[in-house]
Amino acid sequence: MDFKGQTAVVTGGARGIGKAIALRLAREGVNIAVADIGAGEAEATAVELRGHGVRAIALGMNVSSSSDVQKAMETVVKEMGRLDILINNAGITKDALLIRMKEEDWDAVLDINLKGVFLCSKEAVKYMSKQRYGRVVNIASVVAFIGNPGQANYSASKAGIVGLTKTIAREYAGRGITANAVAPGFITTAMTEALPENVKQEMLKAIPAGRFGTPEEVAEAVRFLAAPESAYITGHVVHVNGGMFM
Ligand code: NAI
Repeated sequence: MDFKGQTAVVTGGARGIGKAIALRLAREGVNIAVADIGAGEAEATAVELRGHGVRAIALGMNVSSSSDVQKAMETVVKEMGRLDILINNAGITKDALLIRMKEEDWDAVLDINLKGVFLCSKEAVKYMSKQRYGRVVNIASVVAFIGNPGQANYSASKAGIVGLTKTIAREYAGRGITANAVAPGFITTAMTEALPENVKQEMLKAIPAGRFGTPEEVAEAVRFLAAPESAYITGHVVHVNGGMFM
């Protein structure tokens, strides 16, 4: 298998870490489907990707809707001819301390962050199984491993992704499909920009590298796991966190 000419679906690919992953894979000659709830932003990213000489389409969709996911994967295969790489990156936060956390905020985060990975993987693996080749890379988080005050829903969703990744890895290793996770630490994006300055300064103290990470640094680990050459690595978590957790 050659990286060039493959097709990748990047959920939440319109901005932030997902966009950096899409751009990194495009630099390898991978055609990209940007699957994002923000249809307009996804289209703008697709236009930018085409500037790198690859085919790129935008799919406005919600990863937690099974009908949206089914339609999106069908469109990818119809328009791009194949589906080789799935990057489950879409995610949200709805933070509150445990006793103040609303049930609907628990459900919303679990639905998008964890059920979304289940739904997208289920559909994509159907196609990958037939072609006996695939790469699934799920974006977890350091908080899956160390917890974080205010993130009961988010940390549970990300820890769930780790277990799900290992099960996909075991079920489909015989079909040429690998499944791995990347667990970023604190990365500068819209998601983290919203945090108060004092929280950021506290977090910085816990990072041996002495700085926050960039979306491009996460994308590099994803590129490695998504490459054809990484065929013998499956069920693993690659930590990209400046030493915050090791
Ligand atoms: P972001 O908020 O900048 O981007 C998330 C993207 O996902 C957006 O384009 C958004 O429209 C899309 N999205 C949200 N809900 C969706 C849905 N239901 N269906 C489809 N698309 C949806 O966030 P960022 O920082 O780029 O995060 C990307 C991933 O990395 C997330 O899974 C996040 O949990 C994870 N992560 C981020 C860290 C950080 O420090 N920024 C640290 C660890 C993990």
